[in-house]
Amino acid sequence: MNNELAIYGGPMSIQDDPGDIFKWPIITEEDELAVLNMLKHGKMSGIDETLKFEKEFAKWHNVKYALACNNGTASLHSAMYGVGVGVGDEVICQSLTIWASALPAFSLGASIVFADLDKQTMTLDPEDIERKITDKTKAIIVVHYMGHPANMDAIMSISKKHNIKVIEDVSHAHGALYNGKIVGTIGHVGAMSVMSEKSLAIGEGGFLITDDKNIWDRAVAFGHYERTGIYASTSTSFIGEDKYIQNTELNRFGGFPLGGYKYRINQLSSALGRVQLKHYRKRMEEIQKAMNYFWDQLEGVPGIRSHRPPKDSGNTKGGWYSPKGLYIPEELGELNIDKFCEALRAEGVLTKPGLNVLMHEHPVINEADIYGHGIPTFVANSGGKNKINKGSLPVSEILPNLAFDVPWFKHYRPKIIDQYVNAFRKVAENADKLE
Ligand SMILES: Cc1ncc(COP(=O)(O)O)c(C=O)c1O
Repeated sequence: MNNELAIYGGPMSIQDDPGDIFKWPIITEEDELAVLNMLKHGKMSGIDETLKFEKEFAKWHNVKYALACNNGTASLHSAMYGVGVGVGDEVICQSLTIWASALPAFSLGASIVFADLDKQTMTLDPEDIERKITDKTKAIIVVHYMGHPANMDAIMSISKKHNIKVIEDVSHAHGALYNGKIVGTIGHVGAMSVMSEKSLAIGEGGFLITDDKNIWDRAVAFGHYERTGIYASTSTSFIGEDKYIQNTELNRFGGFPLGGYKYRINQLSSALGRVQLKHYRKRMEEIQKAMNYFWDQLEGVPGIRSHRPPKDSGNTKGGWYSPKGLYIPEELGELNIDKFCEALRAEGVLTKPGLNVLMHEHPVINEADIYGHGIPTFVANSGGKNKINKGSLPVSEILPNLAFDVPWFKHYRPKIIDQYVNAFRKVAENADKLE
């Protein structure tokens, strides 16, 4: 076999058309008919289909309450309000995630405190969480980043010790398990995006799940005007349903959302979501089989490691959203990760280094005066206390240079996957030839 790197004129590792191995979501006639049915009956704005979707979603997670929202950001905002985040409070979150995990705290009058990460899992380091707790900390927002479950045992014991609520952001990890339990159900509330790029992909949408009635009531009252008070009890469409809140205090404000937001999901997404959910577990299992097959073959190859929990740990990565590899430059003679990825692209693999933009380095945190306090909102909402020190999150700051995209296989097709395995192995084993 000619093992010369493609970047220097050798044969490309990827020889075959990958077909639909990367195509996602999988849309069949069943999805089309479900959406068409909503359109034909003019049901885009109701909630009857959504209520069915919520029941199925709650059942899947074995929780009492599931609230569909129009996107994941709305579900996280509602979860923060749900657990009582308000003026002067702090939420602890990782900086290496999308802004939506934490930024909605600003509009509740709260500020964000960033904690550092565990290098292997890219999720919150419990020891750093504990260092960042103050008497203002109201919630820890845990992101199961790139599908990897966070260390929930340690985080829940910190939560208990300090009486702080835990919000799980499950946007990357639908169906992932932690010690055999589905993520989103370990903290006090789970919130997640189910937009089209995610592993559970339904269009634009979000979900909040909880067993806590108080959190549920507050989340509903915050952004679902039609599920509270007089409006709910007089609206013929949902009389008899248990999906509007029975809360005397909050129902006083019925018909007006407390947040001033409208977070109702579009029922085209609910209809699509019901079909996608029905097939999700089986499709997720095939993804797991394909991704584990890929990484199993790369075990022991220098310079690269999988970003996955150990086998038999009881932890899984759900649908393996946006899978990454971890880069160990010292095993490849300090080869620059950009060069490594360039050589892979020449082999036919679509890859690049990098992760999310670090929140704590972004001007919206450091400079933006969003609500007219005369100083950055990040500082104003913390009573003048918060500041960012460069180098304060050492692991978070190096991780974007130590991670690269790997193919997200949706089907278990060894003949195709093997070609990608060969590409990674070839580049890693010939790293000394790359300048
Ligand atoms: C970790 C995480 N949280 C929250 C969101 C926000 O969800 P949405 O885009 O549906 O508002 C996303 C992505 O979109 C995400 O990746």
